[in-house]
Amino acid sequence: MTRTVVLVGASGYGRTYLREIATLEAAGAVRLAGVCDVCPLDPEGRALAGDRPFDTDLGSLLDRTRPDIGIVATPIHTHLPLARQVLAVGAHLLLEKPPLPTADDWRALVRLARESGRVCQTGFQSLGSHAVARLAQLMAEGRFGRIRGIGGHGAWSRTNGYYRRAPWAGRREIDGTPVVDGALTNPFAHMIATALRLDGSTGWDDVDAIELELLRARDIQADDTSCLRLRTARGTVVTAAVTLCAATTSDPVLVVQGSYGHATLSYTRDVLSVGNRREHHGRTSPLANLLAHLDDPGVALQSDLDSCGAFTRVLDAVRTAPDPRPIPAAWLRHVGDGDAGTVCVPGVEAAVKDAAERLSTFGALGIPWACAPASPQQDPIGGTR
Ligand SMILES: NC(=O)c1ccc[n+]([C@@H]2O[C@H](COP(=O)([O-])OP(=O)(O)OC[C@H]3O[C@@H](n4cnc5c(N)ncnc54)[C@H](O)[C@@H]3O)[C@@H](O)[C@H]2O)c1
Repeated sequence: MTRTVVLVGASGYGRTYLREIATLEAAGAVRLAGVCDVCPLDPEGRALAGDRPFDTDLGSLLDRTRPDIGIVATPIHTHLPLARQVLAVGAHLLLEKPPLPTADDWRALVRLARESGRVCQTGFQSLGSHAVARLAQLMAEGRFGRIRGIGGHGAWSRTNGYYRRAPWAGRREIDGTPVVDGALTNPFAHMIATALRLDGSTGWDDVDAIELELLRARDIQADDTSCLRLRTARGTVVTAAVTLCAATTSDPVLVVQGSYGHATLSYTRDVLSVGNRREHHGRTSPLANLLAHLDDPGVALQSDLDSCGAFTRVLDAVRTAPDPRPIPAAWLRHVGDGDAGTVCVPGVEAAVKDAAERLSTFGALGIPWACAPASPQQDPIGGTR
């Protein structure tokens, strides 16, 4: 069955969808019904959209096109109103990650999706990685023994241009509206969502004892160098230690630590390493999975909105946490200038790796540019020191 699709937000990450839709269209799986963006399309966007309707107003585009599916790939704080409009015309929804900027918004949209009887997929594409499914299966079979913890580390670098590209970049809020565009909740959101999925802890009540160290090397509102540690209801410690200020970047990984062994998952590359064995897997995109689910409800949605409860609880903890602490200038290095310029925290690569592998926090590890070391008595979860 060929389903009609409207794409909202086509120039940033939405371009990935525009290209995927073109591929799926060639295969007869979908038909692009229209594109909505508040800015005009560039030449590539216009070529991909062809003669399909373009509108800066989603309401009028939906009225004209009545699509089967609406894909929303716009800034986080615009998700709820646009998603509402998609559901209101009876379309299924594919909403980019992080799905909503507050817990209340998440609950509201879950309720709305249920009332509408429409399907709501999110854009956590790592959850469609076959490496994740394989690792979850190995964990369930007891291959690593009792799971002690899942530690994630990520060392990326963002340029000045990344923060200048849009007014919402690096913001916690705009005029009182939550945006939550920090390292943990946006660029490394997949790390958190994937760790929680691997643990089978996706519900709101499945996470507890959330500890956060939010830091910023840049002069922005949101965090760019952070550590999250929590305990799931199953007793697993989950740590995510991340930075957007690395001098040497690397693929983010999740390390599953069990009583008999461990596994390392590169969730952006679909590579799973267990002992000396390295497995390369494929993945199913959120859109392809949504189409498969609509054709056959027996095919499970890989990242439905309902199962974002635990992730949203973490996001809401970040949103309501005190502002990120600036890392003192003495610990920073500025490299280049203009749009290509970056800010680095020398040694941050080792710090995030250490925190993940020891299921610890920066403070507990005594990382000098982070918060003061916590004493063992103050440590509610207690990773390995
Ligand atoms: N899944 C991933 O790997 C991934 C990667 C990057 C971004 N994202 C997500 O994609 C979404 C967009 O991020 P981005 O970095 O592309 O943002 P961006 O600001 O770079 O681009 C957003 C696009 O949406 C358009 N837009 C903004 N407001 C709009 C509105 N009200 N109606 C219609 N169009 C509107 C903009 O003109 C622009 O074309 C965010 O939710 C982000 O977290 C996901």
